Parts: sequence; structure tokens; C-alpha cells
Amino acid sequence: MTSAEMSASVQLADRALWAKGGAISYLMQQGIENPQCLSLAAGFVDASTLPVDLVRNATDRLLAENIRGRAFLQYGTTGGAERARRAVLEHFATQEGKAVADLGVDLSRVILTNGSQQFLSLVAQVLLNPGDICLVAAPTYFVFLGTIAGVGAKAITVETDTNGMRPDALDAKLDELDAVGLGDRVKLIYLVSNFENPSGYVLAAERRERIVEIAKRRSTSHRIHVLEDSAYRELRYEGDDPPSVWGCDPDGEHVIYTQTFSKSFSPGLRVGFGIAPTELVAPIASRKGNEDFGSAHLNQHIIASVLADGSYYEHVNEVCESYRRKRDAMVAAAREYFSDIDGVSWVEPRGGLYVWMTLPEHFDTSFDSRLFEIATQKELVMYVPGELCYGGEPAERPRNHMRLSYGVLSPDEITEGIRRLANAIRSL
Ligand SMILES: Cc1ncc(COP(=O)(O)O)c(C=O)c1O
Repeated sequence: MTSAEMSASVQLADRALWAKGGAISYLMQQGIENPQCLSLAAGFVDASTLPVDLVRNATDRLLAENIRGRAFLQYGTTGGAERARRAVLEHFATQEGKAVADLGVDLSRVILTNGSQQFLSLVAQVLLNPGDICLVAAPTYFVFLGTIAGVGAKAITVETDTNGMRPDALDAKLDELDAVGLGDRVKLIYLVSNFENPSGYVLAAERRERIVEIAKRRSTSHRIHVLEDSAYRELRYEGDDPPSVWGCDPDGEHVIYTQTFSKSFSPGLRVGFGIAPTELVAPIASRKGNEDFGSAHLNQHIIASVLADGSYYEHVNEVCESYRRKRDAMVAAAREYFSDIDGVSWVEPRGGLYVWMTLPEHFDTSFDSRLFEIATQKELVMYVPGELCYGGEPAERPRNHMRLSYGVLSPDEITEGIRRLANAIRSL
């Protein structure tokens, strides 16, 4: 081989150039590398609530006998172990307030994935071609925005208020896209239905119905799917669970549902699940087969075990109790330290892990802003710049928001973090 050939440059595939997973990796890394910096950024769950005993007991039981134990340490199947899928479907039915038999969901439609993030990614891969469009709330889950970009598709924002994505704005956006010849490129509407990451908004019940109705009505040249991501469904601290978006589609053809055991139980197990319309099951399974031909088999059985013996539900109650206290600490600290700063407002969430804060428009919260520098270098507190959570063109994204998480820190640390953040803002 000549030296010229040896130094030839790497030619990455388009997909590698489209991939934008950098922000989440950077923030997670920062949280781990700078323990002195109070991280209101990390979406990690509260370490003190992680179910070590429950997982140890479940694992001991699973591995108690050699022959049975070996089966759990063997490869599983691409869609997930039947026992675990059944347990997950029962869990889903309980949340829907129905018996499994009344859901009308064949077990083959339940797919267990490596966290719900993998399910989101599989859906993006099987439905979105480069140039296709996914309509999203503003703001929305920034990692999924990266996933959409990663398949070469576009995330276009739909006007959103404190009750979530506005159906009238969705219809108007579809008209707008039709008018410029892009209507046919819309394949997906992505909704984080409960306690949206980052805004904490819950999509209002009547909007759920209307959005499904719009997706059906506008499915003329091809089916427009609605992807309901209910990652925070179980982290509710007040009020009732509205009917799922999935439940507004009794035929089960338009709404794709995903949920995770990361927030309610353990993100380290990486178990999430999706319920797909029948026609998407085989394409999703084929893609997953290309990636990993099955998520961690033992972990699926751990989840199945704690669901079956009910210890999961006791744990979720404890977790919610702990997060409720942390949410209260963050809201109380925001009232104490931010009330006298003009033009600052925040959403007080009834569940989930985040407080969405808005600063006056002339404030810039982005990674390269003065505020981010002062917060992280001088005051030693970290937040997620709100700009990351918007689709659309970079120049059009608002830069005056922050996502603040109360997941990881203790109530006292949360109070201190908010005090430091207020100092950083005041210093500007
Ligand atoms: C809205 C939302 N969806 C999905 C996920 C993915 O979580 P996991 O892959 O751990 O299930 C997250 C994680 O933060 C999230 O906030």
C-alpha cells in the first residue's frame, strides 16, 4: 500500500454526518466529570431510589436453578421474551384501565427494546426517509430531535402552549406544508403526552382526540402515524392520568406507543417497550434484528418478575414520593430566588422530572453564551440550554429558556443549585 493510500481520508456515510447525539453525551459526561458542579441538567434518575434490593432479589430468584438460570443468560428473541412481553402488556392494560383481552393487542405487537430510546430510533428508521418530516411540539425531547436528524429527516415545530401541541396549529402547519408541496413528506407526529421533557406540559385530553382525528383525516396519500412517547406517565405527583393518545385510536393503526422502565424503575436495566400497529411490527423487528437481535434477556425477566410480584408498583409509589419532594424543593427555591428577577417565569409541573424556565428574550442561555459560562465555571451549576429542545432552523429557535431537572440532586442541593443559577442570571 502506498503512503498516499494509507493517509486517504475517512469517508463517512451520510448517516454518520447527520447524527447529532453530541449534546446529550456532552451533558451526561459533564455531570460525571464535574461532581463539584451541581447538575440541574442531567436527566438521570435519583440514585437513592434505585431498586438495588428488588433487582438483587429478582436476579437471585431467576438464577436460583442452573438450568432455568442458564436460559435467562442465553440470547433471547428479537421482540423480547414472551413472559416479559405478556407482563408488559398486562402493565400497559392496567394503566389503560382495561383487561388485556379488551385492548385488542396481539402479543406480537409488543416489542421490548433497549430503553424506549431504541424504540424511538427504530420507528424513525422504518418510517422516515431523508427529507421526510416529523411534526413536533415546541419545545420537545431533544434526543429525539437528534434521532430525526440522524435519519436525514426534518423536525418541524407546531405551535404549543401549556396544554401541549395545538391541534388548530397542527392543521394549519399541514396546510402550509401542502401549499409548498411538502405535505406528502409528513410521516409522523411526535407527542410526549405526559409531563413533556423539557416543558412538563401534559397534552390536554381533548387535544389527544383531535390530533388523532387530524392524523387520520390528513392520511390521504399515505398513513400519517402519531408516535406517543409516554416516558413519564408513571411519574405523576398530582391529578389523574388522562386517557392515552393510543386509546384515541381504537383501530390501532395510526398511533404507535412507547414507554420505559427507566424513569420509574432503573435506567441501567435499559428496558423500554413499544406497541406498534400490526403493519409496522415486521419492519421494526427487521431493523432491530440488524442492530442487536434482542435486548438484554436477563433484564427483561427482571422487569417481568417485579411486575408479577407487585414490588414494581410499591417502588413506583416510593419514587413518586421522592420526586414530589424534589419538585416541591425546586419550585419553592424558584419562588424564593427568581420572583424578584423581572421577566422570569417557570412551569410548575405535576409530574415528570423537569421545570421549564423562561428568561426575558434578550437573555441567551445557549452553550456558547455568557450565562452558560458563568453558571458552569463560576457558580458551578449546570442546566440544559432550551435551544436544544426546538426543531426547525437553528436561527429560529428561542434561546431564552432553560430545562432544569430535579432528578439527581437532593432537595438541599436543588435549592442551592437554583440559588447559584439566580446569582448567575443576576450577574448579567
Ligand atoms: C421523553 C423521553 N422519551 C424517551 C426517553 C428515553 O429513555 P430510555 O431510553 O431510558 O427509555 C427519555 C429519556 O430521558 C425521555 O425523556
